[in-house]
Amino acid sequence: MKILHKKGDSIEILCTPTELNFEIGDYIKIGDEERYLLTQVIDVGYVDFPGEVEDLLRDLVVDGMENVSVLDPYNTASLSMMVREARTVTAKVRAVVDRGVSSHTSPWLPNRYSARFEKPSAGFLEEMTAGGENSLLFEAGTVCGEEFHLSLSRLDGSLTIITGKKESGKSHLAKILVEAIASFGGTVLIFDVNGEYLNLDKTVDGGRSRLAGSFTVLNPGQNFTASLSDMGLKTFLDILEHVYLTPATSLRELARVWRKLEFKTRHVVLHELIEAVEKEPMNEAVRDAILSRLQSIESSGFIAEKASDLVALLQKRPSGNVLVANLSNLMPGVRRLVVEYLLSRLSSILSQNKAEPLFLFAEEAHLYLRETYWEDLVTRMRHIGLFPIFVTNQPDTIPELVYRQADNIFLFNFTNDNDLERIAKITKIDSETVRILAKKMPPRHCLVLGKVVSDIPVLLRVRPSSLQTLGKTKFFFKKVDAVQMKG
Ligand SMILES: Nc1ncnc2c1ncn2[C@@H]1O[C@H](COP(=O)(O)OP(=O)(O)OP(=O)(O)O)[C@@H](O)[C@H]1O
Ligand SMILES: [Mg+2]
Repeated sequence: MKILHKKGDSIEILCTPTELNFEIGDYIKIGDEERYLLTQVIDVGYVDFPGEVEDLLRDLVVDGMENVSVLDPYNTASLSMMVREARTVTAKVRAVVDRGVSSHTSPWLPNRYSARFEKPSAGFLEEMTAGGENSLLFEAGTVCGEEFHLSLSRLDGSLTIITGKKESGKSHLAKILVEAIASFGGTVLIFDVNGEYLNLDKTVDGGRSRLAGSFTVLNPGQNFTASLSDMGLKTFLDILEHVYLTPATSLRELARVWRKLEFKTRHVVLHELIEAVEKEPMNEAVRDAILSRLQSIESSGFIAEKASDLVALLQKRPSGNVLVANLSNLMPGVRRLVVEYLLSRLSSILSQNKAEPLFLFAEEAHLYLRETYWEDLVTRMRHIGLFPIFVTNQPDTIPELVYRQADNIFLFNFTNDNDLERIAKITKIDSETVRILAKKMPPRHCLVLGKVVSDIPVLLRVRPSSLQTLGKTKFFFKKVDAVQMKG
């Protein structure tokens, strides 16, 4: 192998086809023991040489003619064939390492004629990407066929995005992260829209999983309820405004009735609030607007006199605490009501230090998160201790601001150019890498970007999990039927 040229962070390497003993996404160290460039292969191509079209055409014509023997007494054809068969490897320089110290700005380059090319082990990459961090390590999968660990301390306090096309393995990775966080005693809240996380307490073969002792499913309206006094007027008005699209005049009237009732009874209860609105003199249209919404909230069953004790539910447990808010089978309005309540309560609980910081897993958050909450989640709420992990197969549903603030991205395969374009524009690594790698990535592989790998992108094969997964796409034609039909 020889370095052909280097421009910016792109380096082109010449090699013979037999030297291609690596995969796209693998790393190559170029230099010597002490100093080297750490480069990541992103593409392989042919070498451009003068007269190549003419050469190829000549071969084509000669191949097509029968009984033609080309005179080659010195057997130069095989040598020229080897030259013509050379390949160029395009790689990206991720770091310059000088006696163990990694730098992104060093002007050092390896010797073009004598530099050694070496494929580093997964252990070496793990050390490089961990950046000296060797606590809270969990097995995330394999790199170059060897076990690869990531450190939870790099996910802590961060904003993380998991994205990729359908069925690429995003939820599977999310479950591995949940398991890892819980195994170190962390607290996790999952907004589960598809009912995919409801069986995390079971293993694939039906036994008790490692999460069984730390797992609670919150079913709104059943074992999980809220009260108006816990919610407070501000959150209630927010819900009425954003979820039930209540006009401003109605909100003002309701606030007036609420305060009056609160003055009288101290604790506002939903059915008393409804009675008070019915009796209070006000414009009939306004009364109707308020009542229809209050009745709709009442029929959700989520608001009760006695609320679930969220502070107790969120308490840290030695073996981890995994809470799944089951949002599947809820009407869209109720789903948003539950999310709005949870976020507003979490915000007040965390800012009063009544619970330890926690991780929030939100799949397809655009289905239930109102626009103004994105910004709040990635700025203010992150600072008070709520670390979001957004999972989506539609990257354009996450606002650009969220990508810009993201510390980590787990990028699975994308084939759609529009999706790729969006991701390429916003990730911190070069868009060429994203465009080429994200398209080529096999299923269950993801490109890990950001703080969790010290900005050295790693192509990870996500490990299998023993946890039971629900929410698989259902099919009309089952495999058994297909076999029977064939038979
Ligand atoms: N690394 C893996 N090892 C073993 N099985 C996996 C792995 N990744 C994904 N799977 C399996 O592949 C299927 C699809 O994965 P998953 O549900 O995570 O995809 P997804 O990206 O979340 O899809 P969707 O966009 O539809 O939600 C699941 O049955 C899952 O169990
Ligand atoms: Mg999924």
